[in-house]
Amino acid sequence: MTVKEVQEEIIRLKKEKDVCILAHAYQDQSIFEVADYIGDSFGLSVQGRDADNSSIIMCGVRFMAETCKVLSPEKKVYLPNPVAGCPMAEQMSVEDVRKLKEENPGSAVVCYINTTSELKTECDLCVTSSSARRLMKGIKEDTIIFIPDPNLGAYVEKDLPDKKFIYFDGGCPYHQRATYEDVCNAKKAHPDALFLVHPECHPEVTKEADFVGATTAIMDYARESDNKEFIIGTENSIVEHLQYDCPDKMFYPLSVNLSCDNMRVTSLFDIYNTLRGVGGEEIILDKEIIDGASKCINRMIEG
Ligand code: 13P
Ligand code: SF4
Repeated sequence: MTVKEVQEEIIRLKKEKDVCILAHAYQDQSIFEVADYIGDSFGLSVQGRDADNSSIIMCGVRFMAETCKVLSPEKKVYLPNPVAGCPMAEQMSVEDVRKLKEENPGSAVVCYINTTSELKTECDLCVTSSSARRLMKGIKEDTIIFIPDPNLGAYVEKDLPDKKFIYFDGGCPYHQRATYEDVCNAKKAHPDALFLVHPECHPEVTKEADFVGATTAIMDYARESDNKEFIIGTENSIVEHLQYDCPDKMFYPLSVNLSCDNMRVTSLFDIYNTLRGVGGEEIILDKEIIDGASKCINRMIEG
C-alpha cells in the first residue's frame, strides 16, 4: 500500500467506527493528515474530553492516552503503539511522591501532566507546560512540591519568588540533552535567527531564549513573528512542521540530539491496525485511579 492509500483507509474506517484521532504536535506529518485534532498536551486533553465519538485513538505517548481515559471513562481509548511511553512520566513512583509529602507536610503537590495517572492520584493540581505559570499563581500553600521536572518547575518558580519549591531529580531525557554550548553554536551559525525553546530544557539553555513556551506557543510565535529565521529548542519534529507551515521562513534545530524516540515510534500503520482491531492497546484503568486522577486533571482544565 502507498502512504496515500493507508491514509484513505484510515479516514474511511474512523468514520465507519466513530473514532476521533488525536495527534500530539511531535507526530509525523503523515499522521497529521488523518488526525481530527493536532495539539500540545493541554489542547489534546480538552479535545479528548469534548469529542463526541465513542472511541479515541491517541497518537502520542501513554500518559496522554491515560489522561483521555481519565477524562472520558465511557469512551474506548487506544494507544496505537503500546511501546510509546514517556520516560519522564514513568521515572517517579507513588512511593517517591509519598515520601516527599511526608517530608514536607502542608505543601501543595503539583504534577506535570507528563506523569502516570497513578501518580496523579497523589497530587492536588496537574499542569501542562502551557498552563503551569497561570494555574500555579492561584496556589495558597507556601511550599510547592513540583514533580517530576525541575526544569519546568524552575521556569515557573521565577514568577513565584515567595514560594518554596521542592523538586524531584527528574526531567525529560531528550530536552535535557540540549546544552549551553549547543545554543552558542546555533546562534553563531544563524546570527539573525530568534531562539525559541521549551521549558523542559535546562535553565542555562532557556535563559538564552528570545521566547520560552510550550509546543503550541512556540509554533504560534514562529508563525506570527515577522522574523525569517528561528532556532528551535524542542523536539526536532517541530522544525519540520514549522517548515511546512511557513515555507518562506527558515527553521534550524538547536541540536540533532533533540529527537524523542517514544514520540516517533507511532506509525500510520499502527493507526490503521488499531482501526482494524489487529493492533494498538486499549487503555484500561481501575476506577480508583480514574476517580483519584480526575480531580487534579479537572482542576487544570477548569482553572
Ligand atoms: P507540550 O505540553 O508542550 O505538548 O509538551 C509535552 C511533551 O511531552 C513535551 O516534551
Ligand atoms: Fe516525554 Fe520528553 Fe518525549 Fe516529551 S519529549 S514525550 S517529555 S520523553
